[in-house]
Amino acid sequence: MSQFPDASGAGSVTPNLDFAGTTPYEDYVQADVLTHLQHPLSDDPGEMVFLVTTQVMELWFTVIVHEWETASRALRRDEVPVAMDALKRSVRELDALNASWRPLAQLTPVQFNAYRSALGEGSGFQSAMYRRMEFLLGEKSASMLVPHRGAPRVHAELEKALHEPSLYDEVLRLLARRGLPVPQSVLDRDLSQRYEPSPEVEGVWAEVYGNEDQDAELVRLGEALTDVGELVWRWRNDHLVATRRAMGAKAGTGGSAGVAWLEKRAAKNVFPELWTARSHV
Ligand code: HEM
Repeated sequence: MSQFPDASGAGSVTPNLDFAGTTPYEDYVQADVLTHLQHPLSDDPGEMVFLVTTQVMELWFTVIVHEWETASRALRRDEVPVAMDALKRSVRELDALNASWRPLAQLTPVQFNAYRSALGEGSGFQSAMYRRMEFLLGEKSASMLVPHRGAPRVHAELEKALHEPSLYDEVLRLLARRGLPVPQSVLDRDLSQRYEPSPEVEGVWAEVYGNEDQDAELVRLGEALTDVGELVWRWRNDHLVATRRAMGAKAGTGGSAGVAWLEKRAAKNVFPELWTARSHV
């Protein structure tokens, strides 16, 4: 590899230009692959940003799933600082994910209609990576695997995630190992089912939060999870409002009632007892 040093001084040495094959940047980032995955389905110039925003969000979902799986594994090994690092990274990533609503947040019905019919039955509802996020949050549902029957790898990953403890299950197991009275029925629950809130778990969080030392490890863990829960709730609500602006009360391309269906999904609290316990502290 050659360099082209400038005689006027070392400060203006230029980057390498000469590579035998593809650049090391390309080998690492695969930018050529990434920037040729955009295949709009209509001639409307506004469709590109809809497609790329969706792809960008898929990438953020992928990173966030990675962080929450890292956190879950660390919690299982009682490595709370490692879990905290991953959760805190995910909070900043959720901020970036939510910021990526901006280009779509003010779509008008006319603008959206310009490419909506080209989407056919395609819908974010069919996003497997989003589903893995939901499973990690405890929002399990076997029926959400059905759309992926035709994609063996995706289906296998989702099936595995369905039967594994969620991030919240791992947190509750940790609290039990720390001597807090998490009921056995919660610890032994059927992991493939949606997590249902429990008054005893609410009591456990009230006890954790009541600690005068607000810098205690479990208080900080609870707050990091609360940050995650709040930002997921914000993603759902930003999606809901963008949808309401772009298509009013029309049915969704995925076949749901549209906004009415999304309203129900957005109303759910992530990690429910982390919110309700606050009334008892
Ligand atoms: C303004 C543009 C958008 C509109 C109008 C819209 C509309 C909808 C509607 C109506 C649904 C309900 C299911 C259906 O019947 O289709 C839905 C679900 C969903 N959309 Fe969007 N969407 C938009 C942008 C996005 C983007 C950019 C993403 C990013 C991946 C996304 C991800 C999702 C996900 C994950 C669901 C399922 C939510 C759940 O299971 O609770 N949407 N969307």
